[in-house]
Amino acid sequence: MRLGSFFVFVALCSLTAYYIYEPIPEKIEERWKLMLTNSFFRSLSHLADFSELLGLKDYMGVMYLITLLERVVPVSDERVKVTEETLDGVEVVLYQPRQQSDGAALRMAVIYLHGGGWCLGSSRMSPYDLLAREMVNELDAVVLSVEYRLAPAHHFPVAFEDVYRVVKHFLQRGVLAQYSVDPERVAVSGDSAGGNLAAAVSQQLQKEPKQQVHLKAQGLLYPVLQAVDLNTPSYQQNQDMPILPRTLMVRFWSEYFTTDKALFRAMMANSHNRHESSGLLKFVNWSAFLPEIHHGKYNYSPPAVMEGVGGDAAGVDRSSASFTDPRASPLLVPDSALHSLPKAYVMTCEYDVLRDDGIMYVTRLRAAGVEVTHVHYDTGFHGALMFNVWPTDFQIAQRMADNFIKWLKENV
Ligand SMILES: *[C@@H]1O[C@H](CO)[C@@H](O)[C@H](O)[C@H]1NC(C)=O
Repeated sequence: MRLGSFFVFVALCSLTAYYIYEPIPEKIEERWKLMLTNSFFRSLSHLADFSELLGLKDYMGVMYLITLLERVVPVSDERVKVTEETLDGVEVVLYQPRQQSDGAALRMAVIYLHGGGWCLGSSRMSPYDLLAREMVNELDAVVLSVEYRLAPAHHFPVAFEDVYRVVKHFLQRGVLAQYSVDPERVAVSGDSAGGNLAAAVSQQLQKEPKQQVHLKAQGLLYPVLQAVDLNTPSYQQNQDMPILPRTLMVRFWSEYFTTDKALFRAMMANSHNRHESSGLLKFVNWSAFLPEIHHGKYNYSPPAVMEGVGGDAAGVDRSSASFTDPRASPLLVPDSALHSLPKAYVMTCEYDVLRDDGIMYVTRLRAAGVEVTHVHYDTGFHGALMFNVWPTDFQIAQRMADNFIKWLKENV
């Protein structure tokens, strides 16, 4: 019996050590804290796989626990008035400064789109709530945090359309006036999948012939920008990095479009592209758009283009029209669709599968004549911005937020 407990004890210890120990680059700050944080994410991910395997609850359903754990009820405080509203049928959390703006001065507005791979996350999570308050206090801005609907319950383009409806509704002169917002000072921004939606919305809005009020700026914080090449150098270099390993990103991508696992398998193998995509490969050619220092040890080879033939291909074919849609992959547009975009702040992290999505967009926007501020964190990892709340608070999160807010102050 005692020997039995001893074995159980040893087994538990090794299991814990296995979970916690994950080689993390020396350059990352607060490495031990990140290892511990990541062990939680990895355990949850394994549990989610297991639960799906047993048919108890699907993978994303279990992962959604992360969102629930950090959920808060956004409440007003002495400086910020917080209300939950519905704009054109879409839920938003609205943060407004309590102080009357000086005289008749109008304010800046920031439309914020949370991250979470279109499947997780909420504007009602403490990290986003905190970030919104910081923006209100530092910028005297109105912040609109959009509670768009999530996959897999709502596949593409629902998340995009929710956000687009809110943005179009808000950008009406009458609505802006109601919140004392200056029509010349509205920015859209988001992190990760939220950055994807922000980039997509900025592109689609400039195509509206009747749009009177335009966005002043777009803030893309480690954005997801393309689903065509899931083997860029950053995808390869960071495939096992904390918080967002390649498998999870591929999972998010595939679940955004379909619950059919065929797309997930094909995307894992980077063999999901069909003939129709071949003309788009030039827009994500990293050997052309990444500065040499980010090529690393990798040599460019374009993603394979498959012919649709039975089996898995059927499921992939049904989704392929969607994943190359610029509302899902904003990088897949010609320069002519980029040149009139609002100025951009693009933040990228070295230890992030999405690093190259962001850097390629920077190169392409600049080539098209768009004013871009690119901030690259050499020691940054994906999702860092969200780690601003005890006990998973990282110094880099505050630096990222401060830097972005400073840019908004000077540019919007
Ligand atoms: C990618 O870019 C390189 C270098 O600019 C070029 O040689 C190659 O033909 C391009 N390939 C594709 C598929 O666009």
